[in-house]
Amino acid sequence: MLRRLSKEQPDSFAFTPDNQAWAEAQITKYPEGRQASAIIPLLWRAQEQEGWLTRPAIEGICEMLGLAYIRGLEVASFYFMFQLSPVGSVAHIQICGTLSCMICGAEDLIAVCREKIADKPHAISADGKFSWEEVECLGACTNAPMAQIGKDYYEDMTAEGLSKLLDDMAAGNVPTPGPQNGRYSCEPLSGLTSLKEYDSGKTQYNASVQLASDIGDTIKRIDGTEVPLLAPWQGKGSAKSVPAKPAAKAKAKAAEPKPAAKTKADATGVTKQEAKASSKAKPVAKAAPADKAKPAKATPAKAKPATRAKAAAKPAKAEVSAAPSAAKKPRTMKAPRKSGADDLKMIKGVGPKMENLLHSLGFFHFDQVSKWSDEEVAWVDQNLEGFKGRAVRDNWVEQAKVLASGGETEFASRVKKGGVY
Ligand code: FES
Repeated sequence: MLRRLSKEQPDSFAFTPDNQAWAEAQITKYPEGRQASAIIPLLWRAQEQEGWLTRPAIEGICEMLGLAYIRGLEVASFYFMFQLSPVGSVAHIQICGTLSCMICGAEDLIAVCREKIADKPHAISADGKFSWEEVECLGACTNAPMAQIGKDYYEDMTAEGLSKLLDDMAAGNVPTPGPQNGRYSCEPLSGLTSLKEYDSGKTQYNASVQLASDIGDTIKRIDGTEVPLLAPWQGKGSAKSVPAKPAAKAKAKAAEPKPAAKTKADATGVTKQEAKASSKAKPVAKAAPADKAKPAKATPAKAKPATRAKAAAKPAKAEVSAAPSAAKKPRTMKAPRKSGADDLKMIKGVGPKMENLLHSLGFFHFDQVSKWSDEEVAWVDQNLEGFKGRAVRDNWVEQAKVLASGGETEFASRVKKGGVY
């Protein structure tokens, strides 16, 4: 199947401030000059946030990593885990259609998808909640037929089971992933024939399902406030945390503390091995819970995203002010000066919709933006409905200073040449 970017694309993309901090911390995992290796986790986080991978998201991430856009597109279009067109608001169902699953009933599952979701793969159901596609072997052949839904596997499926599961999800529930026929894992259907002592002391579900249940983010969108940012690879295995927003604090307090290394580390994208190593070396105490998180030096003084991404990815100050304590409304204007409004789209992060929004807030000129204090930037960011955090993320003030003084930023020069879409 040809994998193409959707024709429908949003104007722009922005990580939430917490996801932005997470993404910048991921970059520090890689040695100097190898930051491009962070492309997959960053693309994945963008998809976790939006549900699918948009062209502006791919471009924005390439900017962060100093990559040509085509390199990001190559990665995004190669891996089936990346969705290049909009998906259902609740879940995208991936049915394995390879040998074992096909022999064991994948066609029946596909028939359910056709009937309950849409006749064609990648189309969205009438209620907007689901989409589906057939994919190649997902490595759970012993538990065929199976489907990947969100981040988890649902195995030993039947047509009736899938139908009910879709109804459950549509009603707002998330059924437990894993084998759906009572099997614990991938043992013989008739039960264990050896290693029976393994039966003792086991958790309620097999390790993968247990972890999925503990984290509970199977089909959730991830805005980054769910768990504190862990960066155990930075400095002696210490875990650092982005400043928690009030809501995140409450959530973190309310949440039952899970076994730290297992839950938090995996939810933030750290591998199980890293989590294990980190928990052994510096156990829970080092992984400060979100409500105790100190303002972040979390991310990367060390990260030097190369080339043109420098200005955009110069985050030290931005991160600190991602959750500012005070916000103050800047001076606004009722209308542009007689000479007309500046083209605010010359500022990276401002598309046509954003420009209209800025106008409606009373900002028309580069010199207005260039004078915003940190508190004023915070106010603006809080009032960018649907785009919160954009002014900090893209460092509008610094860009505006250059433009207001008659200079030209690298981004503005690309806009003029027609290189920004
Ligand atoms: Fe379906 Fe391998 S054939 S998971």
